[in-house]
Amino acid sequence: MRAEEGAKEPLWWQQGVIYQIYPRSFRDSNGDGIGDLPGILERLDYLAQMVTVDAIWLSPIFPSPMVDFGYDVSDYTDIDPVFGTLHDFDVLLTGVHDRGLRLIIDFVPNHTSDQHPWFKESRSSRNSSKRDWYIWRDPKPDGTPPNNWLSIFGGDAWEWDEATGQYYLHTFVKEQPDLNWRNPEVKSAMFDVLRFWLDRGVDGFRIDVAHFIMKDPALRDNPPNPALGAREIPAHAWESQQHIHNFGHPDVHGVYREVRRLLDEYGNERPRVSIGEIHEFNWPIWVSYYGKQLDELHMPFNFALLNVVWSAAAVRAIVEAVEDVVRIGAWPNYVLGNHDTHRLASRVGAAQARVALMLVLTLRGTPTMYYGEELGMKDVIIPPELVQDPFEKNVPGLGLGRDPERTPMQWSASANAGFSATDVAPWLPIADDFKTINVESELEDPSSTLDLVRRLLELRRSTLALHSGTYQSIEVEEPDCYVYRREADGRRFVVALNFSAEPKTVSLPESGRGTVRVSTHLDSDGEVDLRRLGLRPNEGCVVEVQDSDSRE
Ligand code: GLC
Ligand code: CA
Repeated sequence: MRAEEGAKEPLWWQQGVIYQIYPRSFRDSNGDGIGDLPGILERLDYLAQMVTVDAIWLSPIFPSPMVDFGYDVSDYTDIDPVFGTLHDFDVLLTGVHDRGLRLIIDFVPNHTSDQHPWFKESRSSRNSSKRDWYIWRDPKPDGTPPNNWLSIFGGDAWEWDEATGQYYLHTFVKEQPDLNWRNPEVKSAMFDVLRFWLDRGVDGFRIDVAHFIMKDPALRDNPPNPALGAREIPAHAWESQQHIHNFGHPDVHGVYREVRRLLDEYGNERPRVSIGEIHEFNWPIWVSYYGKQLDELHMPFNFALLNVVWSAAAVRAIVEAVEDVVRIGAWPNYVLGNHDTHRLASRVGAAQARVALMLVLTLRGTPTMYYGEELGMKDVIIPPELVQDPFEKNVPGLGLGRDPERTPMQWSASANAGFSATDVAPWLPIADDFKTINVESELEDPSSTLDLVRRLLELRRSTLALHSGTYQSIEVEEPDCYVYRREADGRRFVVALNFSAEPKTVSLPESGRGTVRVSTHLDSDGEVDLRRLGLRPNEGCVVEVQDSDSRE
């Protein structure tokens, strides 16, 4: 039996907080306007000692033509020169481990770049030994694509190859051909990629569009989206179909059972983690990615908070749905932002962003934070001539582009917000608010979002009830407030969140008094009466219940 099995101690990825770095935008050490690995190394102390996160997830750093900014990989086992070298990677990994942090890297299994040698070989002829590594099909008799599948990034999912007279499948841009995971050689080559990085010492993988790798083997047409009227044409054509055949085929579970076995082998040394990017909002299907025997992914990302209409009732409903489906013993997780979603502070506003941070940092489950979220960074409006994202270029004007949430990290009030070592224009513009929303200023300001995050993380880390205790919703009369209890080892906490811009009072069944441990508002009273707990506009507070003897 492995050491961690049966042990009560939660594993590092259960207890800790994951911080996502979008490497192009974190810190540019050599002044070319693009973030890089030595830049991340320079800022590890910020992550370890100031924000105090536990693990870092790096979006792709591998050689890539950068059509999709690294999610189009042309070599899985090297580093793109724009980010540095394999040596820089090793130095970074050592730096991460020396500080007691963990490093999770991105694994992109669904597709390669069209510049990957595998694809170049595959497209060279119909008889190529790698032809079947990708998904090639003849046209229909009338010359049109083999089925009606669409690319998420606009247009058909099929690209015609004149030279060999067939179409290939690409779920994303045409420069991202989909691999054929039904071919055992592909699977084995991709497992070698996992081994390469595990041997180098990474602590786990974030698996890009993990559920996409297995499609209907018969490549049947998708039916129309039943939510739309017959003649309704959605602005983003992708919405016109019900995507039942182009991803999420049940065969995907077998692959992740094998991935899990591989990680478990390495786990004898120290536990490694697999986190799947799974956009699935049907809870029973979502939870199936943990595996019936909890033998698949350690966690499918839970993206429900990214799309929720921000209200106490809707957020509570999500948490309760998650708590309900993970009863099988799975470990929950919550995501507030990432490189594909408009920033938290732009979605819910600056004041509620603080409430949201308090929420995920006090729920049961692993929180993932997106770089800059701890500062309250917002989306940046990108003028058309500066647009970088292929999604925005292909499907313009619908607000689908992802550049706004990918702008440079705001380190200080100096030139380029301290992102770049020189004053060269960064690859995306710096936000206008960088003079006030930046690390240096916020570290000195006890009312800053960074300070709030630091206080919440300190409390979470030192409090078993908050990182690993039980969760229980508490009924309150006030519809704009969401209140819950976290408890372990005789310590009991109440988290009360006011989702409105009005003062509210909640009466809690907890009798007696409590002590405010953290509030989103600085000047909060230490002692409070839980029978009449007053919350200021947009206030959240974590209260430790004093008379734990009165527990029901
Ligand atoms: C995932 C990534 C996204 C990328 C896409 C294609 O959704 O998060 O950034 O464009 O996969 O790889
Ligand atoms: Ca650089």
